[in-house]
Amino acid sequence: MANVAVIGAQWGDEGKGKVVDWLASRADVVVRFQGGHNAGHTLVVGGETYKLSLLPSGLVRGKLGLIGNGVVVDPEALLAEIARVQAQGLKVSPETLRVSESATLILPFHPALDKAREAARGDGKIGTTGRGIGPAYEDRVARRAIRVADLAEPETMSHKLEELLRHYNTLLRELGADTFAKDAMMAHLLALAPKILPFAEPIWERMDTLRKEGKRILFEGAQAVMLDVDHGTYPFVTSSNTVAANAAAGSGTGPWAVGFVLGIAKAYTTRVGSGPFPSELHDDIGKLLGERGHEFGTVTGRPRRCGWFDAAMVRQAVKIGGIQGLVLTKIDVLDGLKELKICTGYRINGEAFRHLPAGMAAQAAAVPEYETVEGWEGSCRGARSWADLPAQAVKYVRRIEELVEAPITLVSTSPERDDTIMVRDPFEG
Ligand code: IMP
Repeated sequence: MANVAVIGAQWGDEGKGKVVDWLASRADVVVRFQGGHNAGHTLVVGGETYKLSLLPSGLVRGKLGLIGNGVVVDPEALLAEIARVQAQGLKVSPETLRVSESATLILPFHPALDKAREAARGDGKIGTTGRGIGPAYEDRVARRAIRVADLAEPETMSHKLEELLRHYNTLLRELGADTFAKDAMMAHLLALAPKILPFAEPIWERMDTLRKEGKRILFEGAQAVMLDVDHGTYPFVTSSNTVAANAAAGSGTGPWAVGFVLGIAKAYTTRVGSGPFPSELHDDIGKLLGERGHEFGTVTGRPRRCGWFDAAMVRQAVKIGGIQGLVLTKIDVLDGLKELKICTGYRINGEAFRHLPAGMAAQAAAVPEYETVEGWEGSCRGARSWADLPAQAVKYVRRIEELVEAPITLVSTSPERDDTIMVRDPFEG
């Protein structure tokens, strides 16, 4: 019985929530290994809509949720999210949620700097979620971060705050933003400590035990391969490795424990925030995809940019992410379009590319090369088997499968959990 890692294969918001929920219902444990409350997963269970940012999705199904060391944890956001889902009737306690003692904390000066820097960038802004993700990861690698375990050590916190505030206040002052006082920050941390520490533990040890017990583990990725800090459209990316390889490092287990790597891709493409998007549509079709697909960011509410399916990009994500099976979501959004285009490669300054190269100017100059395929008249909505899909829709899926060089494992045909065509059970490896 394999474990499964789920990652986005485009720029995020691929509809991971539904797939993760379906998989979570069949797993024993769900582990977050990177990102923070920049992620947004919407789950509809039993008529109730849950919007999760930091909590592992399995909690909605009563499964143990683990937040690994690779996650940046905003303690206030975590407590607020716990209170929110508790008000909806979910049970979240130290029995159902564990947080790595070595996870980095996001503190109030992180979003403050994130926002001040974005404002200073003007047109060159990354379009971050403004939640302090980047600055917190910077502190982690700069070895000055306050981590969950430090909440039990007032002296360590005091010492680290000195260095942190010297750094942050200098930058904030320079950017014309408000600075932070050490006493207030220390009081803030001391007040948070008794609320967060009951959830803290060495997650690596828990992972070892669960693995030995033969538990089914689901690794829940956030963001997506093209937002990966190394492999994405840098610098228009998030600040963590979003690929499944990081599931091991971000939770404290071996790479062989990660299991089957499932990638999620929408049947078209969307992106929030700035950065290159070769197959973006600025016409009525782009608008139609946005309206029909309800393409607004879960976290920030920003309208998403929409475009044709970019098979060259997903093929790249398949190779980088080690994706062994692909889930295609929201195919019903394409219902009724006369013809569809699939991006198969790019032309950059006259030269042909089958992938997006790393250079920032090259990425910005990428012009998509399209293959045109016929659309379909019937509807894909609610289909649960291939036979329910219009013939042209099956052709479209098969063509995508060929181009991205990964088998299609599932096709999702509506937000309803059971409206799914299962080709292969990811837990069977
Ligand atoms: P950050 O992660 O807040 O630093 O934002 C960096 C980039 O990643 C921006 O373009 C965000 O819009 C994007 N981003 C971060 N989290 C998500 C997500 O969950 N879905 C889609 N885009 C995201």
